[in-house]
Amino acid sequence: MATAKLTFQGKEYDFPIIEGTEGEIGIDITKLRAQTGAVTYDPGYMSTASCKSNITFIDGEKGILRYRGYPIEDLVKRAKFPAVAYLLIYGHLPDPNELDDWRRRLTMDSYIHEDMIKFFQGFPPNAHPMAILSAMVSSLSAYYPDTGRGEDMKRNVVRLLAQAKTIAAYSYKKSIGQSRIYPRTEFSYAANFLRMMFATPAEDYVAQPVLEDALNLLLIVHADHEQNCSTSTVRMVGSSRANLFAAASAGICALWGPLHGGANQAVIEMLERIERDGGDCDRFFARVKDKKARLMGFGHRVYKTYDPRAKILKEATDRVLNVLGINDPLVEIAKKIEERALNDSFFVERKLYPNVDFYSGILYRAMGIPTDMFTVMFALGRIPGWIAQWREMRSNPNQRICRPRQIYIGPTTQSFSGDN
Ligand code: CMC
Repeated sequence: MATAKLTFQGKEYDFPIIEGTEGEIGIDITKLRAQTGAVTYDPGYMSTASCKSNITFIDGEKGILRYRGYPIEDLVKRAKFPAVAYLLIYGHLPDPNELDDWRRRLTMDSYIHEDMIKFFQGFPPNAHPMAILSAMVSSLSAYYPDTGRGEDMKRNVVRLLAQAKTIAAYSYKKSIGQSRIYPRTEFSYAANFLRMMFATPAEDYVAQPVLEDALNLLLIVHADHEQNCSTSTVRMVGSSRANLFAAASAGICALWGPLHGGANQAVIEMLERIERDGGDCDRFFARVKDKKARLMGFGHRVYKTYDPRAKILKEATDRVLNVLGINDPLVEIAKKIEERALNDSFFVERKLYPNVDFYSGILYRAMGIPTDMFTVMFALGRIPGWIAQWREMRSNPNQRICRPRQIYIGPTTQSFSGDN
C-alpha cells in the first residue's frame, strides 16, 4: 500500500494513503499524534476529511453532485422526494412495493403527538420558524425515546422525516393565526405539505401540479451534500451516541446561519435592498469589493464552478414563474447581478459562482412561502441526508466520539495570590 512520508524533527514517518472510489486521495493521520506527538492544525477543516462515506459524491471542480451514484440532474427529472429520501437512507431506490409502503408510512406517521400542539402556543407570534423547528424536533425525543431497538429506530427515522414537515407547516399556520390542517394519505409528500401550509377549513385545496413539482425538485436538490456544516454537526452530536432527534435538532441550528442554509433568506433580503435602492447594483458591488458585504448565494467551500443545484433551480425558476404568470422584479435583479459577477475579476479570481441559495428563494417566493420559512424549507429537504449520514456513522463499529484537539495559546501557569 502506498504511503505518505513525513519528516519531522529529524525522523521519518510513513502514513497510509486512502483512495476513494472517485480517485480522491487522503492521508490517514489517525496515528500521527501517537507516533510524533504533534497534531494537525486545520481550522475550518479546509483540508480535513472527517469520515469515509458512500452516500454523496461532489466534484467541486467539475460541478458534479451524485447521491449514491445517481446524478442530481437525473434524480430531479425522474424521481420524487420520498424515493430520493429512501435512496439516501437505505442505499438503493425503492421498488414499487417498498415505495408504496414508504409513502404510506410517511403520511401515517406525520401526525405529531397532540400534547406537542400546546408547545406552539408558548412561542411568541413572531418567533423565527427555525427556532420552532429545532425546539420541536428536539422535543420529539421526549415522545419517541431511543430504546436502541432496531424497530423503534426504523420508526423514528420515518417520524422525523414525516413530522418535520408537519411542524414546519403548523409553525406557519400559527404565525398567521390559522387553524392547522392534517395530512392525508391520498396526497404526495409535497402536496400534503402545500396543503398543510395553504389550505383552510373553508374550502377544498388541491396543490397545483406546477407547485408540487417545484417543491419536489427543491427538496431533492437539498437532500444531501456530504460533510457540510450542518451534516458535520449531526455527525458530531451523534458521535456521542445522542439520539437521532437531538442530532437533527443540532443540525437545524447549524443550518440556520446565513453562511449556510440561512443564505436563502439573506439572498432575498439582499435583492429587496437593491430593489429599494432603485435596482442599481454599483453601490452594492463596491461594498462587496470593500469586504463590507458578501454577495449572498455566491461562493462555496467545495464548488469552484457553477453549483449544479443552482443551474437546476435557475431553469426551474424561469419555468415556474412562466406557468404561474408571475413577473417578479427580483428575478431581473438576480440575473443582472449574476451576469455582472461572473464577468468581474473579483469573483472570477476567487472562483465565486451562484450556489443553491441564489435562486431557491425566488422559487419559494413564487410558491407563496414567506421569506422566514426559506431556511425551514432547506431543512425539510436536508433531513434525509442527515438521517443517512447519522445512520452510516452509527452503523460503523469503529466510530469514536468526535473530539478534535486544539493548540492552546493562552497564558501558562499563573499563581493566584491574595483574596478575590
Ligand atoms: N461574496 C463576496 N466575497 C466572497 C463571497 C461572497 N459570497 N464568498 C467568498 N468570498 C471571498 C472571501 O472574502 C475570500 O476573499 P479573500 O480571499 O480576498 O479573503 C474568498 O472569497 C474565499 O472566501 P472564504 O470565506 O474563505 O471561503 P469559504 O470556503 O470559507 O466560505 C462560503 C464559503 C459559502 C461561506 C462563502 O462563499 C460565503 O460566505 N458565501 C455567501 C453565503 C452563502 O451563499 N452561503 C450558502 C452556501 S451554499 C448552501 C449551503 O450548503 O450552505
